Amino acid sequence: MRFGLLLSSLLGLDGGPIGMDGALTTANVPAKFLGDVYFVEHVPLMALQVDPRISFALYVPESHYNPDPNSEGSNGEKLPLLVYVHGTGRSIVAIYDELVPFANSTPCAILAPLFPAGMDGPNDIDSYKELRSQSLRSDLGLLSVLDQVAYRWPGIETEKVAMMGFSGGGQFVQRFLYLYPERLAVASIGSPGRPTYLDDTQDWPVGTADVEDVFNRTISSQSIGDVTLQLVVGNKDTELHGDDDFWEWEQEVLGGGGLPPMNETRLESVQKLHTSWEQAGITSQLDIVDGVAHNETGVRETVLKFLQPWIQKMA
Ligand SMILES: *[C@@H]1O[C@H](CO)[C@@H](O)[C@H](O)[C@H]1NC(C)=O
Ligand SMILES: *[C@@H]1O[C@H](CO)[C@@H](O)[C@H](O)[C@H]1NC(C)=O
Ligand SMILES: *[C@@H]1O[C@H](CO)[C@@H](O)[C@H](O)[C@H]1NC(C)=O
Repeated sequence: MRFGLLLSSLLGLDGGPIGMDGALTTANVPAKFLGDVYFVEHVPLMALQVDPRISFALYVPESHYNPDPNSEGSNGEKLPLLVYVHGTGRSIVAIYDELVPFANSTPCAILAPLFPAGMDGPNDIDSYKELRSQSLRSDLGLLSVLDQVAYRWPGIETEKVAMMGFSGGGQFVQRFLYLYPERLAVASIGSPGRPTYLDDTQDWPVGTADVEDVFNRTISSQSIGDVTLQLVVGNKDTELHGDDDFWEWEQEVLGGGGLPPMNETRLESVQKLHTSWEQAGITSQLDIVDGVAHNETGVRETVLKFLQPWIQKMA
């Protein structure tokens, strides 16, 4: 505490509304200490200052990171950022294994936000996917995470990012794309179970009729089309989550709010989404991976192969 107070007065830092008053950054910590304070390589799972229910993991490949791009003599170059959004199971283990070689070789930094289940009450598992619920706006949560990352890591590009998500994570990415296409350079949406269609006749999260009321944002298919997009699913991803009995019970016990029962397979919904986007003038690459069921690791190679050249172009 005392350390923080001293430093903030010493450095005159103002973190402003993002809760980073007195925060150290990679520009004001001596470069040789960056590893000692865990600001490079694997950053400890960190609370979002303006809403500590949300946290994030970050991987910053040290040899590719410029800690102070605004310093004299620096070329101002920033490291691109890939945001990895977890699925319903909340596993972010990929940032500690599969995504590390990708980050080192591309190169890019990887951010994995964590939206725990239960933020919106003890039975809540879905609220982050819908972007809004009674007590949570996960879209704003992610934007705040990006603000916090931008503050501490000025050498990471956060204005326009790459994003990937599978299943529940794919739902998040898909909805975030509708609302904030200008923040995305490239996005991979994997096997979203219950996606949102660009449908003016149904309300969020099934359609987009009430988006202006709910989010104070307008949807522009032109801006969405400016993002380089991949839709990816396994050709064996053909099982519904839960049978009719389950969904009847679920609706009875948890009420009808939010996402509707799942009534089409992910293979179906991804293809339907692809076609509906095409009709709206939005181009996306549809990848149907042979022999893969609802398995995030099974589509990983296809996802990273798609993302890598586009992330390299962001640098
Ligand atoms: C809605 O968005 C507009 C434009 O971005 C902004 O000026 C206005 O304050 C917002 N309204 C609310 C209620 O947040
Ligand atoms: C599936 O559910 C959605 C959302 O409730 C609904 O709009 C659609 O008509 C349903 N489709 C079928 C085939 O029942
Ligand atoms: C998911 O895919 C990976 C990689 O292909 C494979 O090793 C794993 O066994 C699969 N998991 C399941 C449950 O099929």
